[in-house]
Amino acid sequence: MAIRLGDIAPDFKAITTEGEINFHEWLGNSWGILFSHPADFTPVCTTELGTVSKLQNEFKNRNVKTIALSVDSLESHHNWVKDINETQNTVVNFPIIADPIFEVSKLYDMIHPNASDKFTVRSVFIIGADKKVKLTLTYPASTGRNFDEILRVIDSLQLTANYSVATPANWKNGEDVVIAPSIKDEEIAAKFPKGYSRIKPYLRLTPQPNL
Ligand code: BEZ
Repeated sequence: MAIRLGDIAPDFKAITTEGEINFHEWLGNSWGILFSHPADFTPVCTTELGTVSKLQNEFKNRNVKTIALSVDSLESHHNWVKDINETQNTVVNFPIIADPIFEVSKLYDMIHPNASDKFTVRSVFIIGADKKVKLTLTYPASTGRNFDEILRVIDSLQLTANYSVATPANWKNGEDVVIAPSIKDEEIAAKFPKGYSRIKPYLRLTPQPNL
């Protein structure tokens, strides 16, 4: 069955480039991003893993651990990492799961047989510190993902988990946010001391509260 928002991210054991892991134990108290790519030694995937490696400080600042997956072998992953480091001018600094018998990819529905029954699509699962799935994304093999967008989503998810706000279209960290419809006008002054603007009864903006 498909994994839905709010579900507990399924736990699993796996072999990775950084040793054997138990997923929930590996996550610990961190948020997590589990993302699949179709295959090792392919161009788009090479740029994606290089990009995630270079963004590692951004993920760490947000208490997020990243872990990649493909159905290639551990030996293949280790060999490919050398190419990623060389061509992307980085040192891959997060684990890559080897899933040659499709255990994790089937558990997370990363194989879409009408796209390919041999390779995983580009899935992304953002998992909160409570182990619940906060966001899912699915991209085809031909389109590399925008990891700046994934950082932006994490900023929104972590902000909205702690304050009664939502983030509007194209919002970026530091911009005004929307006050949740569940908050009554008379409650706003206490909850949002930086003030607010009331454009419509249902559209009320306030400065980002955690800055
Ligand atoms: C790539 O990563 O470049 C790729 C992988 C599978 C199919 C097409 C492109």
